[in-house]
Amino acid sequence: MATPQALKLAILISGRGSNFQAIHQAIVNKKLTAEIKLVLSDQAQAAGLDYARQHQLPTLVIEKQAQESRSAFDQRLQTAIDASGANWVVLAGYMRLLSPEFVRHYQGRVINIHPSLLPKFPGLRAQRQALAAGEEKSGCTVHFVDEGCDTGPIIAQREVPVLADDTEESLSARILTQEHQLYPEVLQKIADGKIEFKARG
Ligand code: GRF
Repeated sequence: MATPQALKLAILISGRGSNFQAIHQAIVNKKLTAEIKLVLSDQAQAAGLDYARQHQLPTLVIEKQAQESRSAFDQRLQTAIDASGANWVVLAGYMRLLSPEFVRHYQGRVINIHPSLLPKFPGLRAQRQALAAGEEKSGCTVHFVDEGCDTGPIIAQREVPVLADDTEESLSARILTQEHQLYPEVLQKIADGKIEFKARG
């Protein structure tokens, strides 16, 4: 089992940033022993950046240039993350696939949250996928990030019921409530050395 470590987080967002806010609130409320070293967005307009600035957290926007390769873009992210002193990368509504080089550089130290019970419904609009499939339950998953899309080793899941009159919005809201609890809890378990990454194979 890994020894307890102080988590130094780089949180990557592309939009609203409510999971990032939940993580920050858990730190403020002393439910999570971690420090946010960087809030990084690939979208200058991401609403989560406003929250970060209001709370005096270090922010950075790195936008992808038109002809830039994924590797070159991710190399810029990596340089910024490493310069921040972060030792864990937390994807919180970050809408880009990461390059193999980036994933290898941080192997076992990049996690994501996804609004389905993976391996079911990876990719975009997972809640709509669950509704379309007629599922009776759905939920959220925190997982290590590998080179695929929502395919890495699963760390923890939380279930919610799918109700007969659910819309994509109502199901998303029910799942999101669970996301906001699960993500800080998983991070605390990582800080406590209770979660260990094992590469597949
Ligand atoms: C969440 O539903 C998360 O599971 C998914 O993207 C959404 C991000 O929401 N990866 P927010 O930006 O954290 O509010």
